[in-house]
Amino acid sequence: MSFPAVPQITLRNGTIEPVAIPQIGLGTARIGVDETQKLVRTAFELGYRFIDTAASYENEVGVGRGFRDSGLARADVFISTKLRGSEQGLDAAKKALDASLERLGLEYVDLYLIHWPLPRVGKYIESWNAMEELLAAGKARAIGVSNFMAEHLDRLAQHSSTTPAVNQIELHPREQQQFQRADNARRGIVTQAWSPLGNAGDLLHEPALLTVAQKHGRSPAQIVLRWHIQQGIVTFPKASSQERLAQNLDVFDFELDEGDLTAIAGLETGWRVNGQDPRVYEEF
Ligand SMILES: NC(=O)c1ccc[n+]([C@@H]2O[C@H](COP(=O)([O-])OP(=O)(O)OC[C@H]3O[C@@H](n4cnc5c(N)ncnc54)[C@H](OP(=O)(O)O)[C@@H]3O)[C@@H](O)[C@H]2O)c1
Repeated sequence: MSFPAVPQITLRNGTIEPVAIPQIGLGTARIGVDETQKLVRTAFELGYRFIDTAASYENEVGVGRGFRDSGLARADVFISTKLRGSEQGLDAAKKALDASLERLGLEYVDLYLIHWPLPRVGKYIESWNAMEELLAAGKARAIGVSNFMAEHLDRLAQHSSTTPAVNQIELHPREQQQFQRADNARRGIVTQAWSPLGNAGDLLHEPALLTVAQKHGRSPAQIVLRWHIQQGIVTFPKASSQERLAQNLDVFDFELDEGDLTAIAGLETGWRVNGQDPRVYEEF
């Protein structure tokens, strides 16, 4: 399997063979089925090989159609989806992946994630045990979690011998997640960044970022994506136009120096896109 121009990161994957994931993909939250289909096809044409979706985005059908439109081979793309809150539990999670595969029109996903821990509901251990079975059955090539904190990962480790391959968390220069990134790394878990651009917003107009962007002759979004890449993070910005899709993939031929990294480190405020705290946030 090869992903032109985009570096890959190896996911540790229980007893199953390691899996390579491209470091940049396309995010698809809050996009309808038809738009997703077009966007996925365009992204694949531009050289993207990794798509992040979720059952709760209700656009898996569009991801599958976009993939088939592209004419690419199944082995040459990496497709990731997530278990929604209402389908947590041992049996429910297994049925949920079957339903996702049906909507995607695929026989397996490359990565399956528990979308949120939902500690009050208390089913993430059962759900994880279901994911382990799905991994063994070959319905997912790798399994992981999203929005898990150290306390949730500790509980998983007490009840399972399979370490999540990834932990997908909110991560951008406003919320740099130093603690959780180090905690993931210590456990051998790859960190994925969601809302890598801070969902655009004021971050991309930040004067310190504009200065670094000007110095490199790049856009502020490219500087932020390069910042993720240099730290070994896997990410998937969402963009609507061909121009932005192309721009977001074009971050592999320049390097941020120590001064640039220090300037970006100074942008941390603890702000979160929707103020979602995984200890209490719930969505189903
Ligand atoms: N696991 C979770 O709980 C979770 C939660 C949220 C998101 N996610 C995933 O993470 C993905 C990305 O996060 P996100 O969509 O929330 O936010 P994001 O990728 O940080 O930002 C997307 C916004 O940035 C704009 N943008 C993209 N490229 C740009 C560029 N080069 N220059 C200027 N603006 C640019 C987009 O505008 P246009 O669209 O107008 O181009 C869009 O408004 C999601 O799509 C989803 O797959 C996961």
